[in-house]
Amino acid sequence: MSTIYLNGKLMPIEEACIPVLDRGFIFGDGVYELIPVYSRKLFRLHHHLHRLQHSFDGIRLMNPYSNAQWQDLLEQVIANNKTEDQSLYLHVTRGVAKRDHAFPQNTPPTVFVMSNPLLAPPQELLLSGVAAICAIDNRWIRCDIKAISLLPNVLLRQLAVDANAIETILIRDGFLTEGAASNIFVIKDKVLLAPPKNHLMLAGITYDVVLELAAENNIAYEVREISEDELRHADEILLTSSTKEIMAVTRLDDEQVGDGKPGAIFKQLHQLYQHYKATIMRGNTA
Ligand code: PDD
Repeated sequence: MSTIYLNGKLMPIEEACIPVLDRGFIFGDGVYELIPVYSRKLFRLHHHLHRLQHSFDGIRLMNPYSNAQWQDLLEQVIANNKTEDQSLYLHVTRGVAKRDHAFPQNTPPTVFVMSNPLLAPPQELLLSGVAAICAIDNRWIRCDIKAISLLPNVLLRQLAVDANAIETILIRDGFLTEGAASNIFVIKDKVLLAPPKNHLMLAGITYDVVLELAAENNIAYEVREISEDELRHADEILLTSSTKEIMAVTRLDDEQVGDGKPGAIFKQLHQLYQHYKATIMRGNTA
């Protein structure tokens, strides 16, 4: 049984209850974060808390805690759950109030944190790569906010599940934005291409790590708009997220990507990422 945090208290998940008038339930009015924990250490906590603040600012909700308070409560949740590697899900809504679209006055937010075991992607998928499909990005234009209202992402991701694929890669006005729940990189002629961070995609924490590793290891990269045509003619496609780490997309809409196998840049970045994680586990929580 997992232990969660709800509005100041730790409790078994089965005992946690939210009033039906919570604005998260009624309007999807809230923001979230997902932070990986390796060997009970928070991975890139300050980057995640910085992005959380950006999400709070984006929906005009006051951050209820300081970074030190967040760290303290997240560490309590980690300590009260069993596995060494965890994914921490933090969720803050605009609280409980009579249903009215306008913001309620003087209403405390609802703060919820849960932990799930964090499982590394299966070895066979790292070796084979995964399938993805493409779809039109029909989400709103504040995709930089990690909003809990994820209905478009849910519908888009399900298209992949229906097609026996792992992710839906999104195209807006002819250009790659990201995946339904991940960031996407393209490799062409040994250059790693990354779409620029803007309001049309979530600024992934794993995305940042990948670009840092590329810069430190002389992997050529460019941050620029990537056309659908470039995506479809890529030598390699990479998918990144806190839970999937780095994976190679080897099939796109039933076409082979490159030679249909995870490529050299995937292998190099995957190895560098594992090494970086191991450094974090040795004690550096930056
Ligand atoms: N999602 N883009 C979207 C739309 C995402 O939902 C995610 C992650 C990412 C990657 O961000 P990061 O590297 O910080 O995990 C990009 C998480 C894992 C989720 O919603 O479960």
